[in-house]
Amino acid sequence: MNITNLGTKAHVSFFVATELYRHMLRHPQGRLGLATGGTMVDMYANLVDLLSKNQLDVSGIHTFNLDEYVGLSADHPESYYTYMHDVLFNQYPKFTESFLHIPNGEASDVAQEAKRYERVLNEKGPVDIQILGIGQNGHIGFNEPGTPFDSETHCVNLTESTIEANSRYFDNKSNVPRQAISMGLQSIMKAKRIILVAVGTSKKEAMTRLMTGEITTDLPASILHQHPNVEVFVDDEAMPY
Ligand code: F6R
Repeated sequence: MNITNLGTKAHVSFFVATELYRHMLRHPQGRLGLATGGTMVDMYANLVDLLSKNQLDVSGIHTFNLDEYVGLSADHPESYYTYMHDVLFNQYPKFTESFLHIPNGEASDVAQEAKRYERVLNEKGPVDIQILGIGQNGHIGFNEPGTPFDSETHCVNLTESTIEANSRYFDNKSNVPRQAISMGLQSIMKAKRIILVAVGTSKKEAMTRLMTGEITTDLPASILHQHPNVEVFVDDEAMPY
């Protein structure tokens, strides 16, 4: 796994957007694995810009989001469904809605929904490029420390540190959902290529632990050392010691 410091968040955002754009350009039926979160907002803005300037036909592209909160309706302002439509799908409305895959956080049977999502991933996948952010505790998707490496899409109990980190998006901490449906670590590892992005000082510690190379379920992202095609892009602030 190699790591490249691109200096600034602006450079990282532009570079990753360009990678996604170029993949869609070359592969009009491509499969993209998408992430949400603060890290990705500027990346999607750059991607929308590239798509708009070039009027790329994305009607054959399938996207797969990593995760969704349990209990939030799709139209809740903090659902990842809303996030994705706000930052990408409504900004460049040429995607085919039925090709945009996001776990349904409102499903009455969450375990069943997780199974369905994994099935869709297996039937329509594999993902060509999976974009990942990383949590301060080393989570990828919502796979918190201790998640088994062989996990598939499942219902997750969020840790206090993740609830705390994500409370910035909610009116108050008690409104942050306690659970999410997330692709598992094994589901993520099925992608042909993985790009992990980390920016800002709050990610430096996790990146330092990741790049020491120890593979442990205490640091879920460390499973990526076992994948043959992973690249990591950071800014100055997240660059490990
Ligand atoms: C989001 C996701 C999470 C985030 C991670 C970093 O779909 O799967 O793993 O990538 O929590 O979030 P930010 O970018 O908000 O620091």
